[in-house]
Amino acid sequence: MQLTMTPMAVEDLEEVLEIEALSFPTPWSRNAFLYELLENERAVYCVVKNSFAKVIGYIGMWVVFDEGHITNLAVHPSYRHQGVGKFLLSNFIKTAKAKNVKHLTLEVRRSNIAAQTLYQNIGFVHMGVRRKYYLDNNEDALIMWKGPI
Ligand SMILES: CC(C)(COP(=O)(O)OP(=O)(O)OC[C@H]1O[C@@H](n2cnc3c(N)ncnc32)[C@H](O)[C@@H]1OP(=O)(O)O)[C@@H](O)C(=O)NCCC(=O)NCCS
Repeated sequence: MQLTMTPMAVEDLEEVLEIEALSFPTPWSRNAFLYELLENERAVYCVVKNSFAKVIGYIGMWVVFDEGHITNLAVHPSYRHQGVGKFLLSNFIKTAKAKNVKHLTLEVRRSNIAAQTLYQNIGFVHMGVRRKYYLDNNEDALIMWKGPI
């Protein structure tokens, strides 16, 4: 599969919102993404497109000093298990590096083994827990870090 990563644009939002709704129990709204793209100066968002220019995944972070806080990462269910998540994350690390980010962190649901395995394979390590972090089901969040990148 031919994959390209580009900065997320407002025009990508219809496809991003579809993936978001298919991927998370409490999906972000269009306004939440619009705020990130148009107003949040710390936000960096990218999409991955296939050879038909279809958005099949996305990732975002907030840059705070030399730390990058990954806010979301999702791949369209029809395109999972084909290396798209790995492509997106490993290329995004290069983007983070270019912005002088030294360490990356994220939260992941304790039950989300797919994402945890992806993160571990890319060098993230489990550094802590936020108890009952997810309000929809009181699930714990594992805190993971990678760095220096
Ligand atoms: C997590 C997610 C982004 C992975 O995307 P993907 O494109 O399927 O991942 P890849 O195909 O690149 O897989 C990369 C590695 O992750 C691991 N992985 C992916 N899916 C997995 C699964 N279901 N079970 C266990 N490991 C899995 C594997 O180690 C895989 O490497 P391998 O194929 O060499 O074994 C995708 O499942 C997703 O969008 N999930 C819903 C949203 C989500 O949970 N986001 C993360 C929030 S913290």
